[in-house]
Amino acid sequence: MKVLIIGTGYVGLNTGVMLAYLGNDVTCIDLNQDKIKGLQERKVPFYEPHLDELFSKIHQKMLFVCNYAEADIPNQDVIFIAVGTPSLPDGNADLTYVRQAAESIAENLGEKFVVVVNKSTVPIGSGNWVEAIIREHYFEVHNEKPNGLFNVVSSPEFLAQGAALFGSFYPDRIVVGSEHELSVARLKDLFGPIMRQDFEAPAFLPRPDGLKEVPMVVCDLTSAEMIKYAANSFLALKISFINEIAHLAQKVGADVSSIARGIGLDKRIGDRFLNAGIGWGGSCFGKDTAALVATARDYNLDMPIIRAARDVNYGQRTWVVDRLQEELKILKGKHIALLGFSFKPNTDDLRDAPSLDISRLLVQRGAVVRAHDPVALNNARSQYPNLGISYSEDLNFILDEVDAIVLISEWPIYRDLAWEAITPVTIIDGRNFLDKERLSQLGFNVIGVGR
Ligand code: UDX
Repeated sequence: MKVLIIGTGYVGLNTGVMLAYLGNDVTCIDLNQDKIKGLQERKVPFYEPHLDELFSKIHQKMLFVCNYAEADIPNQDVIFIAVGTPSLPDGNADLTYVRQAAESIAENLGEKFVVVVNKSTVPIGSGNWVEAIIREHYFEVHNEKPNGLFNVVSSPEFLAQGAALFGSFYPDRIVVGSEHELSVARLKDLFGPIMRQDFEAPAFLPRPDGLKEVPMVVCDLTSAEMIKYAANSFLALKISFINEIAHLAQKVGADVSSIARGIGLDKRIGDRFLNAGIGWGGSCFGKDTAALVATARDYNLDMPIIRAARDVNYGQRTWVVDRLQEELKILKGKHIALLGFSFKPNTDDLRDAPSLDISRLLVQRGAVVRAHDPVALNNARSQYPNLGISYSEDLNFILDEVDAIVLISEWPIYRDLAWEAITPVTIIDGRNFLDKERLSQLGFNVIGVGR
C-alpha cells in the first residue's frame, strides 16, 4: 500500500519504518528541513534501540520530503497524522500542528479515496474536528464538497520509548476507531501482517514466544481516542499507587518490592508498572493525565483519582531532595551526582524528566550538581544549558569526591559500576535498582523508595 506519514517524531518514524519493513511504499513528511535532510542522509534524529539498524536496511525504500507537493497525496491509500501535540499552560493539547496537517491534506486531496489516520494523541473529539477542518478547507480551496474522498479514523499509538520498534511489531492490540467499513477494511489489510504475526521477524527483534496474533479493537472514533487517555492514565495511576504504598511501607518497616510482587501475581492486578521509585516522566503520562482532567473540566466533571495520581507523582521529586537533605542535613555546597538524566533508560528524551525538577530543587537549596547519562547529555546541554548544573560523560569526574549519589534512571551500567573504587557515600536509589546488599557491604548508605 502507499502510505504517507506526517511527522517524523517517535511515533511517525517508528510506524513508518515498521510499515516500510512490511513492504509498503512509505513517504514521510516533516516541515523541519534539517530533520528531513538528516533522514535523507540516513541519520535517525533521536536514540531508539534498533531503529538505526532497521532504518539502514529499508532506508532506500522510503521517501523523505518536506513539502506537500512532493508527498503525492492524491495517490496515497492511508495517511497517518503523527505530529506533536504539546501541552498548553492550561493542560489542554496544542493542536496547531494537527490543524496544519489537516489543512495540507485538504489542499492536496485527489480523486482517490484515502483513509486519514489520527495517530497523534489528540483531545477526545478531535477526530471529528480533523474531519471538519479537512472538509471546510477543501471547500475553501476547491469550492466543492470533498464527498467520498476521505475518512478520518483514530488509531492511537501505545508504543513506549526505548521499546518503540518492539511495540510497533508486537503490540498488545491495535485500536481502530471508525464506523466506516471501507476504512476499517483498509486498515485490517495494512496491519494484517501484524495481526496475523506472519511476517519474518527482524533478526534483532525476535518475535516473543507464543505470540500468534494481535487483536484489533474496532470501535467508534471517540471511544478510540478515549482508550489512549484511559490506558495512559491507568498506567500512571498504577505507578502512583505503588509509590503511595511505598511511603507507608517505609514507615511501618515493610518492603515495597515484596508487596508489589505479592499483589502483582494476582492476575486481576498484574505485575507490570508496579516499580516504586521517583515516578513517571516522559512525553505521555504527564501530558495525557493533564489533558484528561482538563477535558473533564470542560464538561463540569472532576477527576479526583487522576488528579491525585499526578500530585503523588510530582511529589516524588520533592521527596528525593527532602530525603537527601534529611541524610546530609545541609545541602548547601554539597556535591551531588545524578546517574541517568532522561526520563527512563534507553532513550535520550528529557520531556518531563524527574531529573530536571530534582536538579532545580537541589540547585535552589545550594547543592553542586553533576549529571551523567549514557545517551541524553547532548540533549541536556542544548535544551537545558542554564539549569545551573554540569554535565559529563566521564563517570570518574561525576563520582569524584561526591557527598551523595542519586540514581534517576535504571541503566544497567550503573548497577555494574566498579563500586569498590568509589568512596562510600549516601545513595538515593530512585528506582530500587542497585544491588543494595553489595553496596551496603562496601559501606554505602543505600536509601531506596519504600524499602
Ligand atoms: C508510555 C506508555 O507506556 C505508552 O503506551 C504510551 O504510548 C506513551 O507513554 P513511555 O512514556 O515511553 O510510554 O514510557 P513507560 O515505559 O511507560 O514509562 C513512563 C514512565 O514511568 C518512566 O519515567 C518510567 O521510569 C516510569 N515507570 C514505569 C515507573 O516509575 N514505574 C513503573 O513501574 C513503570
